[in-house]
Amino acid sequence: AKILLVNGPNLNLLGRREPEHYGQLTLEQLVQGLQDKALAAGVKLEHIQSNAEYQLIEAIHNTDAGFVIINPAAFTHTSVALRDALLGVAIPFIEVHLSNVHAREPFRHHSFFSDKAKGVIVGLGPKGYEFALEAAIEALKQG
Ligand code: DQA
Repeated sequence: AKILLVNGPNLNLLGRREPEHYGQLTLEQLVQGLQDKALAAGVKLEHIQSNAEYQLIEAIHNTDAGFVIINPAAFTHTSVALRDALLGVAIPFIEVHLSNVHAREPFRHHSFFSDKAKGVIVGLGPKGYEFALEAAIEALKQG
């Protein structure tokens, strides 16, 4: 069983980027923790972070994962193309945001992904990824 974790633009700056919104943990630490968890559950977790929309789209096109966990970051609010990629491959996905986007600027309240996601987790910081991983593992094991 395989899960693809997709992190959008600027998430490579985690740990030093607006820590009041995004916390202190680096992306590397976050992903390592998730990979340990996945391994313990017998699931392979692949990860891509990119600042380029087409690279995220191509990673989604090319994956053989059965589930996607995605934080589209700023593309959440802009990218019909990334939405269409997920719909195109028809792989179920969970949308995660570190910050509570609904408590922030109005332009962050709309997502091009939420109406198609299995579930959406916002505002719980890195814990949100852990919850998403648990749910994805369960969904995969249920086949
Ligand atoms: C984010 C929220 C987005 O609005 C923002 O553009 C990000 C990160 C989050 O995880 O809280 O880059 O997706």
